Amino acid sequence: LSLFTLNASHDFGIKVAEELGITPGLHEEREFVDGEHKSRPLENVRGRDVYVIQSLYSDDDCSVNDKLVRLLWFIGSLRDAAAGRITAVLPYLCYARKDRKTKPRDPVSTRYMAAVLEAVGIDCVITLDVHNLVAYQNAFRINSEHLDARKLFASHFSRQRGDEDIVVVSPDVGGVKRAELFRQTLEKTLGTPVGSGFMEKHRSAGTVAGERLVAEVEGRSVIIVDDLISSGGTLSRTVRACKNAGASRISAAVSHGVFVAGADEQLADPALEELVVTDTIPPFRVKSGVLKNKLVVL
Ligand code: R5P
Repeated sequence: LSLFTLNASHDFGIKVAEELGITPGLHEEREFVDGEHKSRPLENVRGRDVYVIQSLYSDDDCSVNDKLVRLLWFIGSLRDAAAGRITAVLPYLCYARKDRKTKPRDPVSTRYMAAVLEAVGIDCVITLDVHNLVAYQNAFRINSEHLDARKLFASHFSRQRGDEDIVVVSPDVGGVKRAELFRQTLEKTLGTPVGSGFMEKHRSAGTVAGERLVAEVEGRSVIIVDDLISSGGTLSRTVRACKNAGASRISAAVSHGVFVAGADEQLADPALEELVVTDTIPPFRVKSGVLKNKLVVL
């Protein structure tokens, strides 16, 4: 087995390599003055089972599109160097939210992602808590593996909220299945019943509407579950609804913390006590002390 971690995901990749007890393979990513670049393995990969790690989000040094092209070219170079089997490990998969047409002639970006990754020669893709699992599985013709963080979240909350009457709430109907799977895992971990509910949410021309909370939260400890936070709007409106409905404590478990500009302010509400995310995206955009103090990165 060979593991390569591209420069933009170096820290994440090192943690994976340490966990596996292996040393990442040597590779080169070279910049040219005109903005183009090249990447290649610096060791023999002929016939090997190769894993490449690249989490696909924008940061201050590298845009998501740049990271994607670096990944594609690197996979191409592995294929041309006769690698036996290539697996792309993409902790955060970009363009996964545009999984269907909502307007005439809309792009279906999830499917195009699959097409370009397959075109350069990957054999398998692995990601975590993708936005729409069915769309992800349908988009790829190759083996598409899916990991989820629910056991990680469940063991965290069973330590923190073990003796509480918990309700798991999805912030929209689309996330009900994800929340239900987490609820079942948490119930199993705790050995006590855990309730469930969801919030109404409609998005039209960028505006979010729908105020109904379908959950019994009064006097109970709420855990809101979602795949990602971008502006923080979805989470903050759900926090508000749970607070108004009398929840005694409110926490959130969200797999990917994208945190675009403005999320700090959206999530400052003291009613949200704790926000747990994974390390697929480092929380480099979280600037406010208020949010930092309640943020837990697993
Ligand atoms: C939407 O369907 C997703 O599951 C998230 O709820 C959403 O993308 C979060 O975005 P924001 O933080 O901007 O509301």
